[in-house]
Parts: sequence; structure tokens; C-alpha cells
Amino acid sequence: MTLQIIPEISSLRARLAGENSIALVPTMGNLHAGHIHLVELARQRAGCVVTSIFVNPLQFGANEDLDNYPRTLAEDCAKLQAAGADIVFTPSVQEMYPTAQTMRITPPPIANELCGAARPGHFDGVATVVMKLFNIVQPHIAVFGKKDFQQLFIIRELVRQFNLPIDIIAGETQREHNGLALSSRNGYLNEGQKLEAQRLYRTLKLIVDNVQQGNRDYPAIEAQSSQYLTQLGWIVDYISIRSSTTLLPASLDDHNLVVLAAARQGNTRLIDNIEFSV
Ligand code: PAF
Repeated sequence: MTLQIIPEISSLRARLAGENSIALVPTMGNLHAGHIHLVELARQRAGCVVTSIFVNPLQFGANEDLDNYPRTLAEDCAKLQAAGADIVFTPSVQEMYPTAQTMRITPPPIANELCGAARPGHFDGVATVVMKLFNIVQPHIAVFGKKDFQQLFIIRELVRQFNLPIDIIAGETQREHNGLALSSRNGYLNEGQKLEAQRLYRTLKLIVDNVQQGNRDYPAIEAQSSQYLTQLGWIVDYISIRSSTTLLPASLDDHNLVVLAAARQGNTRLIDNIEFSV
């Protein structure tokens, strides 16, 4: 099958009419093995696999990398074709937002913590575009990566609170051999930064070991780890041990946990997380 590239909503709707098992993999392009893993999960579960590529202005802050965000459509299409996707939906900004998007999804308060604290409005933009993509494609399932753990959490809430008939499937974070989580933003790192970047995952693993060995002083662990990375030149946004079911700060009664971090190497903001239990 040849991958179909469809930029218009009306053509996409016409093409999808009559499909009875549609999977959507929403992306912003610059696809790497992490995205392809999501496409493969979609391929296993649905008759028609749609990937969207749209760099969504609504989710970028004023000083963020919207203009520089890597756009690599030809390479992306080659990868999607090889992974067996049927359709790539590539709308323009004008197609998605022909008039100002004054109606927005307001995500739950947790969207103002963690990544949302440093990126005000980010998850409003994500939730709004994902709602639009869901309405345009009307998928039966949609696949998101666990690297964006908070995003996945908010999208699950979107689906639950608005009763959307969509199964959300989560794909495991894909990593380089040294543990660095694959991300389109890794491409911004120079050689030295890339070498250092692997420390983020190693630090999260040390935290998991520490907690599993019985240390329950979560604020102290967070502060020490943050200080450690700061001494090595990182600019740490947060390191936080949370309940993986509520995403609230972990209490001693929580057994399903996630440790999440966001930290910068130079101007490049990296995020990662590990789920674990105690
Ligand atoms: O994770 C992403 O790439 C984006 O936030 C998403 C879900 C495609 C919405 O623009």
C-alpha cells in the first residue's frame, strides 16, 4: 500500500468514510523510532492507520521553538510508508485554525504543574488540538507515547470527561543504547550535551533504586537529585515523585509511582520519566 498524504480536512473525511477501524497517531513530525513504535502499535490494532503531522502553534509559548521546530516531511513519509501507515494528515495552520481558535479546552489543574508550570497554556493548546484531531479523524483508537507522561494523563482525562468513544493506547518510551529517551529535541544537542543528556535517565533510575530500597523522604530525594544535576550544569525545571494514577505528589500510601523530570542542557529542554511500584 502506498502512503496517502492528505492535507485537507474535507478530503480526509471523504477518504475515511466507511472505514470501521481507524487508529490515529498524532505527532508533530520529525519522526524517530519512538513515533514509529506508536505507528506499529496502531498497525496491530486497526484496519486504517492515520498519522497526523502538525506543529501546533497553540501549544508553544512565545519564547519557545515553534519557528525552529524541525520539519522533515519527506523523511517522515518514507518512515511512515515503511511502518505501514495508510494515511498521513498534514494540515496547514490555516486548515486547522482558519479563524482564531477562541474556543479552548481547559485541562484540569494538574496541567498547571510539572511541565505546565514552566509552559503556561501548553496543555490547553495540546488538549484543544487533540480534541480537534479526534473530531476530524474520529478514530476508534489513538496512540500516544509515555515519554510525555503528563500529556498522556491529560488526554486520558479529556477522553474520560468528554465521554469520547476512543481507546487510548500508550507506547513505551524508546531509548538510545545509553538510556537517553528519543525525542525530536535531541537533534538540538551538540556532541557534549548529548553525552551529558544520558545522565537524566540515569538520575531517574537512581531515584527509583533509592525509593525501592526504602527511602521514603521524597522531597529530600527530589532536592538532592535536582542539586546534583544543577552542579553538573543542568538547569532543572523539576524532578518530582508522583502517584502514577493521580499525578499528584506521592504520599506514603501510594504504591504506583512515577518519577518525572524536565531539565535543560543549554537551550534544549529534555523530559523523561520512569513508572515504578513500591
Ligand atoms: O506529543 C506531541 O507530539 C504533541 O503534543 C501532539 C500530541 C501531537 C499534539 O500536538
